Amino acid sequence: MGFIVNYKIQISESVEELSEQFAQLLIEKVNNSKDDFNIALSGGSTPKNIFNYLAAHHHNTIRWHKVKFFWGDERCVPPNDSESNYKMAYEALLSRLQIPDSNIFRIRGENDPQNEAKEYSEIVVKQLPQINNIPKFDLIMLGLGEDGHTASIFPNQKNLLDSDKIYATAVHPETGQKRITLTGRVINNALIIVFIVTGNNKAKVVDKIINQKENYKYYPASSIKSQSGELYWLLDKLAALQIK
Ligand code: 6PG
Repeated sequence: MGFIVNYKIQISESVEELSEQFAQLLIEKVNNSKDDFNIALSGGSTPKNIFNYLAAHHHNTIRWHKVKFFWGDERCVPPNDSESNYKMAYEALLSRLQIPDSNIFRIRGENDPQNEAKEYSEIVVKQLPQINNIPKFDLIMLGLGEDGHTASIFPNQKNLLDSDKIYATAVHPETGQKRITLTGRVINNALIIVFIVTGNNKAKVVDKIINQKENYKYYPASSIKSQSGELYWLLDKLAALQIK
């Protein structure tokens, strides 16, 4: 499967500036889309600042009513758990934009992981158009772990990159926390993929992946390449410290 290996790197002075860059991307892509705009949100701590910024500054500049919200991955915890990616996004963004429940597709972390991965895959198949016989998200937000994982595809579970599943179960290699994650094939099928990475603790892995240094293929994020050609790396200056 050929990939268009081109991407855009945008380096910002601050998380606020990065958030504004992401907002401008959404304004361009969401507001000009002719249909529903299907987004898969990322989890972890980085997006929280982005979501708060969007809710505070872009309540009316982005046509949020067109957006259907999904998740790229979820921890297998209840929706009121502090670990829940849904909880974080709902509190920081969705509740503040008054997004209707009908446009929010929560991964039910409280359910049996295998069953939920299957059921959520069916929901996504039903809701999204397909390209290459794979559901096509309009935009997938991704974070990056220090170990080069993205979504919940960890270095010791790289089989999830080529899995024929849409969502699969995963296990955090350090904590043992069960996860449900998009697989690499569906991620690479998205129209737009946006890595959002901040902090100097990510600088080394960002450099290895972007500059394809040493054992870069060890890192799952290095296998994320958009087929449609729109891959963005939104970095703050700390995460970009080591790339030239
Ligand atoms: C998750 C995310 C995960 C995250 C990275 C970076 O559920 O934790 O999907 O892939 O994006 O671990 O997390 P931070 O932004 O917290 O560093």
